[in-house]
Amino acid sequence: MCHIFVNIVPFGLCFFSECFGITITSAITQKNIKYLQSLGYDFIFGNEGKLACGDYGLGRMSEPDDIINYLDILFHKTKPLDGIEALVTAGPTQEPIDPVRFISNKSSGIQGYLIAEELVKNGANVSLISGPTNLSTPSNLSNFIKVETAEEMLKVFLKKIPKDLFISVAAVTDWKINYNKHKMKKEEGTPKLKLIDNPDILKSISFHKKRPKLVVGFAAETKHLTQNAIKKIKQKKCDFIIANNVSKSKEVFGGNMNEVAIINTKGIILKLKKMDKKKLAKKIVKEVIVPSLN
Ligand code: CTP
Repeated sequence: MCHIFVNIVPFGLCFFSECFGITITSAITQKNIKYLQSLGYDFIFGNEGKLACGDYGLGRMSEPDDIINYLDILFHKTKPLDGIEALVTAGPTQEPIDPVRFISNKSSGIQGYLIAEELVKNGANVSLISGPTNLSTPSNLSNFIKVETAEEMLKVFLKKIPKDLFISVAAVTDWKINYNKHKMKKEEGTPKLKLIDNPDILKSISFHKKRPKLVVGFAAETKHLTQNAIKKIKQKKCDFIIANNVSKSKEVFGGNMNEVAIINTKGIILKLKKMDKKKLAKKIVKEVIVPSLN
């Protein structure tokens, strides 16, 4: 284990940015972390990945960028989204078929998590409702709730409708299947699966009497990107749609790059060049969210 220990005396702040290796998950390390937290020390937890010892797991030190972001949040006193209540949905949903199988989609959740992180950085109080992902939880969220199915996502959301902002990045699986309590057996023959419509979470919130002031949706399209996105902005009563070209799905899902067009209710389109998802998250927050809420 190694750590960077920073003690910023004039501000009365102490924190650790840790690189534990695989020992992060051990009971003794967890106990020590809790003890230090109880004394007021703060931690910038690391990420999952390949470790110096050759193992794979939690325990990599945070990227220097993330440490700087964290400090940025700590020291910038007034930020453009101070006091804003926001909710982001991210990741895929998984709809179970039986105890071992499910249907889902290729979403990694990266773009949604980066947007949530950027909103926090700009001062918003952010709740993130996420489907299953392998990502580490962004720092300083107000709420982080993991769900599996679309119905769970909607149920959690209805208890937490924010007053200001909803960004719907989740790739909600559009259909579920009648759940089989027992594992379906091959010897019973090829099953005929009946798809049942899932709720449209974005639409339910947009038409809700407690609709947040600003609602931003995404549109994942493989053809007619702008026409389909313009249709969606109307059908789902959004203020903006970020239209995402997913025809090269191998690049977008799980990758770091994204290419989008931003559409408003007048159909005005801002086509952005391909850029990394972090840069795009910054652009969406700075150029769409901040001006719309101020
Ligand atoms: N969405 C949602 N609930 C669903 C389906 C989609 O909240 N059941 C949201 C997504 O988070 C996204 C927007 O609606 O912000 C558009 O999602 P997309 O997958 O592009 O379109 P669909 O509405 O699923 O329609 P289609 O699959 O026919 O393109």
